[in-house]
Amino acid sequence: DRERTLAMIKPDGLSGNYTDKIKEAILESGFDIVQETVVLLDAERASLFYAEHAERSFFDSLVKYMTSGPVHAMVLERHDAITHWRALIGPTDARKAKASHPNSIRAMCGLDSEKNCVHGSDSLQSAAREISFFFRDAKSETVEHDE
Ligand code: CMP
Repeated sequence: DRERTLAMIKPDGLSGNYTDKIKEAILESGFDIVQETVVLLDAERASLFYAEHAERSFFDSLVKYMTSGPVHAMVLERHDAITHWRALIGPTDARKAKASHPNSIRAMCGLDSEKNCVHGSDSLQSAAREISFFFRDAKSETVEHDE
């Protein structure tokens, strides 16, 4: 079925000017970009987004990374969007992506297991939560495409 997922280009993706290449890969892979917004998260918002990782040793570093510059959030839609977007971005650790998934987005623009350039929702439930995190009550910052 057609499905929606939350895709996010992280601060290193924006500062490295990878947005256009990533959007090309998205459209070539048959996704529609339904909504998009560029925002600077503060520590409170970044912590809320990654609340499930709050107890992990890398959490403080993750929040620092995710607040180091703007992020570009997109709602992507296609058949099995969650699975297909996660396949397109590749493994969490960008070093592993470079070694074994050379055509993935993280192989193109990621650095390591933290600075991995992009995010994708991992389930229907997290997709719903993450989409409303960026797009509910955020209409004024949102570009809507109705093709
Ligand atoms: P993401 O797919 O957005 O989900 C959680 C994020 O935490 C992940 O990408 C990385 O940016 C970060 N992360 C996951 N594992 C590690 C790790 N072992 N060390 C540092 N950061 C990590």
